[in-house]
Amino acid sequence: MQQNIILIGFMGTGKSTIGRNLSQVFGYPLIDTDHIIVEQQGRPIPEIFASQGENAFRDIETNLLHSLHKHSGHIIATGGGIIGREENRKILRELGYVVWLIAKPSEILERTSRNSNRPLLNNDDPEDTIRDLLEIRTPLYRKTAHLGIETDDLSFDEVTTGIIESARYHFGSQE
Ligand code: S3P
Repeated sequence: MQQNIILIGFMGTGKSTIGRNLSQVFGYPLIDTDHIIVEQQGRPIPEIFASQGENAFRDIETNLLHSLHKHSGHIIATGGGIIGREENRKILRELGYVVWLIAKPSEILERTSRNSNRPLLNNDDPEDTIRDLLEIRTPLYRKTAHLGIETDDLSFDEVTTGIIESARYHFGSQE
C-alpha cells in the first residue's frame, strides 16, 4: 500500500484545512483535488459544472485520481463527491490511509453557506440537498474509509493530532 493520507468527507467538513495542517505537521506535500482541477481547467468549479455538467467534472476527478497512482508520501484532500464512483473508491483505498471527516448537517450547512463555490448547494433549499446527499453518500464514505472522525466537538488541531497518531499506527503496523 502507498503511504499517503487521504481525506474524504462531505462538503464543509474541513478537508482542505485539515489537509493543510497535516501537510505542515507530517511534512508531506498537500494535493487538493479540487484545487488541481481548477488549475488544470483554468476556471472555478461552478463554471465547470455550468458549462460541462457534473458528469464531466466527475470524469476529470477520476482521471486525476488515476494520475495520482504513483504518488506516495502525500496528503490528499478530495472533493466531497469523489466517493460516488466505485472506480474512485478502489483507487482511494489503494492510495493509502483513508480518513473520513464527519460533521452534523447543521454544521455542514453553516460552513458551506459562507460562500457560493459549491454548485450542488446553490439552490433554494441547500439544507434538504445536504440531507439527501448525506443519505446516499454516508454508506460510501463508511466503506471507503479506514478511520472516521466526528469533528463537531473537536478543534482542527485536535482532529489533525488524532489523524497523525492513527496514521502512524496504521503505517507502522504494515511494516
Ligand atoms: C462536491 C464537493 C466539492 C467539489 C464540487 C462537488 C460534492 O468539494 O468537489 O463542488 O459533490 O460534494 P468540497 O467537498 O471540497 O466542497
